[in-house]
Amino acid sequence: MSHKILEGKKGIIFGALDNQSIAWKTAEAVKEAGGEFVLTNAPVALRMGAINDLAEKTNSKVIPADATSVEDLTNLFNEAQEHLGGKIDFVLHSIGMSPNVRKKKHYTGLNYEWYKQTLDVSAMSLHKTLQVAKDLDAINEWGSVVALTYIAAQRIFPDYNDMADAKSLLESITRSFGYHYGTAKKVRVNTISQSPTVTTAGSGVSGFDKFISFSEDMSPLGNAGAIDCANYCISLFSDLTKYVTMQNLFHDGGFSSTGVTTAVMDRFGEE
Ligand SMILES: NC(=O)c1ccc[n+]([C@@H]2O[C@H](COP(=O)([O-])OP(=O)(O)OC[C@H]3O[C@@H](n4cnc5c(N)ncnc54)[C@H](O)[C@@H]3O)[C@@H](O)[C@H]2O)c1
Repeated sequence: MSHKILEGKKGIIFGALDNQSIAWKTAEAVKEAGGEFVLTNAPVALRMGAINDLAEKTNSKVIPADATSVEDLTNLFNEAQEHLGGKIDFVLHSIGMSPNVRKKKHYTGLNYEWYKQTLDVSAMSLHKTLQVAKDLDAINEWGSVVALTYIAAQRIFPDYNDMADAKSLLESITRSFGYHYGTAKKVRVNTISQSPTVTTAGSGVSGFDKFISFSEDMSPLGNAGAIDCANYCISLFSDLTKYVTMQNLFHDGGFSSTGVTTAVMDRFGEE
């Protein structure tokens, strides 16, 4: 991308784990578009070390924060503003984790402590991020917060498990906080509902390989990739989308509006 549509804008990017992460691709695209940012992830993820390569490549600082900790988030917003020399213009919330999915618990046999963690890490963390930012008045007017979600928030995809409930909550927080932050400070909050994408979080869902190929055949344009998702984030961080807020925006090659495709029907053969 050659347009510097984020020139002069400062942000915080959560969730770059490795070079497949949607947040990683977004950080590279933001840099290309002229934006500056700090990178953040949970201390345990930082120990893997890959994020330092991204930090070097994009000339950005890494500030550890567990997104479930209000204390960590407060420190993050304070340090980020100090480092970047002013208030924040954009935030990417690219965070998801379910212990029930990881440990292969069925949706009808969930461990409730883990269920709470799923909701806290994958959804409530967005509320905490927004509340901390609002309390500190850390985001500029017309600032833009984007979180990543999946269509299992609206329709049943059985293997998505308790992450579906987390995504429903995430999308609801986007509407509710979007209202309050919009009226108080003109800050925008949206979710992007992304196609299945090969990343660490994505591949954790059981049957992912088969599913990604089903989704490819069910999408008139094919699955949207991580780089295209990054470019969509850039547009939402920019002033070109100033009046877009409280929306769940499908970035899925048309999957969400499709009932069936000939590509899928052809798999069943001729009757
Ligand atoms: N990959 C897909 O198929 C797909 C599709 C739709 C939406 N999404 C969403 O996109 C987002 C990014 O996922 P990804 O696919 O790039 O995978 P990823 O595994 O690269 O990213 C998930 C990130 O969440 C971070 N994280 C987990 N617990 C955390 C905590 N307590 N505090 C701070 N960070 C924490 C991880 O360290 C990791 O960086 C997630 O919200 C995911 O649900 C992914």
